[in-house]
Amino acid sequence: MRIEFERGVIRDWSERDKADLVEFADNRKIWRNLTDRFPYPYTEKDAIWWIAHVAEMPAPTSWAIEVDGRAVGGIGIELREGIYAKSAEFGSWLGEPYWGRGITTAAARALLPEILSQFGLIRLEARVFAWNPASMRVLEKAGFKREGVIRCAAIKDGVLIDQALYAYVEESVAV
Ligand SMILES: CC(C)(COP(=O)(O)OP(=O)(O)OC[C@H]1O[C@@H](n2cnc3c(N)ncnc32)[C@H](O)[C@@H]1OP(=O)(O)O)[C@@H](O)C(=O)NCCC(=O)NCCS
Repeated sequence: MRIEFERGVIRDWSERDKADLVEFADNRKIWRNLTDRFPYPYTEKDAIWWIAHVAEMPAPTSWAIEVDGRAVGGIGIELREGIYAKSAEFGSWLGEPYWGRGITTAAARALLPEILSQFGLIRLEARVFAWNPASMRVLEKAGFKREGVIRCAAIKDGVLIDQALYAYVEESVAV
């Protein structure tokens, strides 16, 4: 995978990204908005594990966001099975020094059609903690629609929190 967009490149993770990954991912503000599978503190061991994990995927579903030649964030999907085989969970994060420049919005816009076609998907979902309006805004700008609120859906950072449900549906089948 390599997609150039106006502010950077979406590409496969590489072993050379280890130091960048630790530098940008080791951030409580990022951890607080993702599932607990994303660690905090984010150590070199975590970065080594992640890069090896993605490399072992038969078809990688997670990619680095590269800006200024550095891996400054991640973007990807989690595939589902059975009756949900045409859906996937979409997620992204970006290193804090790069926030507010439209990078994640541009990356998502560039990647979404590619993901749908490469994996034969119809629907991408994102569940956003109620305290994360920046992520809601990114999803809206990238074409996701808000479908509702999943009440008391998660416990994050010790708090029982609602999640907003957003979805991006392949245009030709969307009603
Ligand atoms: C969410 C995140 C990916 C956004 O990345 P980004 O590259 O800074 O996003 P963009 O610059 O493309 O867009 C951010 C938008 O959110 C808006 N925004 C930022 N803070 C906001 C706030 N507190 N309230 C409302 N809107 C806010 C910005 O104004 C901008 O919208 P605009 O273009 O209409 O002005 C990044 O902040 C991040 O990594 N956060 C931690 C991890 C995370 O939340 N991941 C998503 C999990 S669902």
